[in-house]
Amino acid sequence: MKHEVFEKNSILLLVGILVMVSIGGMVQILPLFWVDSTIEKVRGMRPYTPLEQAGRDIYIREGCYNCHSQMIRTLRDEVERYGHYSLAAESMYDHPFQWGSKRTGPDLARVGAKYSDQWHGEHLTNPRALVPESIMPGYPWLARTPLQYADITERMKTLRMVGVPYTDAMIQNAMKDVKAQIDPESRAARELLTRYPKAKVVRFDSRTVTEPSELDALVAYLQILGQMVDFTSFDAAGPNLR
Ligand code: HEC
Repeated sequence: MKHEVFEKNSILLLVGILVMVSIGGMVQILPLFWVDSTIEKVRGMRPYTPLEQAGRDIYIREGCYNCHSQMIRTLRDEVERYGHYSLAAESMYDHPFQWGSKRTGPDLARVGAKYSDQWHGEHLTNPRALVPESIMPGYPWLARTPLQYADITERMKTLRMVGVPYTDAMIQNAMKDVKAQIDPESRAARELLTRYPKAKVVRFDSRTVTEPSELDALVAYLQILGQMVDFTSFDAAGPNLR
């Protein structure tokens, strides 16, 4: 029996196991050295606006990821329910990414533009007001808490250090852009759009203040989710840019 030699010598057995297991690893890892990129080339990805980024920080602070994933898998039922499966490119500027691993609530990767800002505002304040059977907790303090964003410029500079392509103009105008994104029809809002295409100004029926609340920031973030990539010019079969 040839394997007897392995069974009687534990060191040899260990080496044998390592050889076998590493073959599996190599099959997965080695191709990555020959592909140019594991991130698809897509049109439309841009860094988050300062207000969206601030909202993202609130999403993380409140632990929304404990109940919501942001990762649509390539399975048919997921694509039919949530839309095009998630691309690596869609989270290339996310630090940290919010793929999540728990779905007590639905996936949010493409929730942007699905509801109005007003809907999100009311839902986040009291989910049961809109979805009677909802088990999502309410976050009523978001609407009445002014957003703290004095550090947003520094945060964007930090993100730039780890590869998010914020331009000098984006960083210089950060404080202004935060306010612009809650001020529809303003010149500042039009300027914001030149820096951040597809940015949506947050609109609530009863806005009385000119300083954004935490709710404004979170809604700005939710509304851009899944909205950046232009899927009319994306072909998963590649070549990716038509
Ligand atoms: C305890 C789990 C839980 C937490 C925490 C939670 N949610 Fe939810 N969420 C749900 C459930 C369940 C639903 C589905 C029922 C509903 O619409 O209220 C939902 C629905 C939603 C929807 C509507 C999605 C759709 O496609 O209809 C949004 C948007 C949302 N949540 C955002 C958030 C945000 C933002 C946070 C953090 C501030 C958060 N949720 C925290 C459980 C949770």
